[in-house]
Amino acid sequence: MYYNIALIGFGGVNRALAHIISTDPEKFYCEMGFNLRIVAVSDVFLGSVYTPEGIDLALLAALPLAQGACATLPNGKTTAENEDIIKNSNADIVVEATVTDSITGQPAISHCRWALSTGKHVSTTNKGPLAFAEQELMALSLKNNVGFEYEGVVMSGTPVLRFADKLLKGSGINKFTGIVNGTANYVLGLVEQGYSFVDAITAAQRQGYAEADPSADIEGKDVMLKVIVLANRLWNTNLTQKTVQCQGISDLTETMVRQAVTEGCHWKLLGKASKQDDGSIVASVSPEKLSVEHPLAAISGAVNAITFTSDMLGDVTVSGPGAGRIETAYAILSDIIAIHQRRES
Ligand code: HSE
Repeated sequence: MYYNIALIGFGGVNRALAHIISTDPEKFYCEMGFNLRIVAVSDVFLGSVYTPEGIDLALLAALPLAQGACATLPNGKTTAENEDIIKNSNADIVVEATVTDSITGQPAISHCRWALSTGKHVSTTNKGPLAFAEQELMALSLKNNVGFEYEGVVMSGTPVLRFADKLLKGSGINKFTGIVNGTANYVLGLVEQGYSFVDAITAAQRQGYAEADPSADIEGKDVMLKVIVLANRLWNTNLTQKTVQCQGISDLTETMVRQAVTEGCHWKLLGKASKQDDGSIVASVSPEKLSVEHPLAAISGAVNAITFTSDMLGDVTVSGPGAGRIETAYAILSDIIAIHQRRES
């Protein structure tokens, strides 16, 4: 069987997804029990293309990073026509991976809204729709009986949302503490090794870890959005940016970061949320100096980790990649698998 996929945004993540799909289709089918066909692509810079029988993935992989390049493909156009082209397409699943405006969450929210409204499943790696419109989009998905999946939003391909939601269900999670920004963690590690903050941030951008605007990584905003997404999913609450205290790593100096190492400590940017006795949720983002005995002190580079504290298990820590193109593309694949499994059951 086939699922037809429409990609909105054709940057690093969706390109990596196209690469994964095309690399070894037979192995893919054997492991997953379904095939994927990319039928539409729309990108604000590259343009759009819709081919109901499936776009030639070799041509798509070779698409140059040039304005309007989609026009070089059969049926391609120089303009992005997200809504018209994809709403009326034969796509079953819309994968939303555009650049998020961190103030409004747009245009990703609109993309998810009209895709769900027209009965298409949605997988997004975008924090915006979750941070600003989760309840509305979830309600739309239920109303239209389609999936709204977003595993890649927290810890990219490391399946922490489903881990907490499915595997720790019933354990009484009352708190989580995490390193959920690969850029900040990578930068702090390089500064410990002698880099300046500026050079370390440039290195994180070169690795593809940083957001388009890296201040979201450095000032803690990216962590705050992930904390909101995870807390709302875990406790079915409605945390917003107004209710989370947020401080990034820009107040740390290179001297402070290196001095900590000589004291047997590491500065880490932590996102936290906990359930209070009255049922309310308190969340925060701030840098903390952790002694090397702390389970999160050894998390280095772009690796992320979250410790869940629950009534029955105490602390359970999940760690793994938290950023990267292939890693985030895998999260989309895991969303598609979840959509498939739900449909099958
Ligand atoms: N900029 C983010 C990070 C990417 O560094 O963690 C993944 O959300």
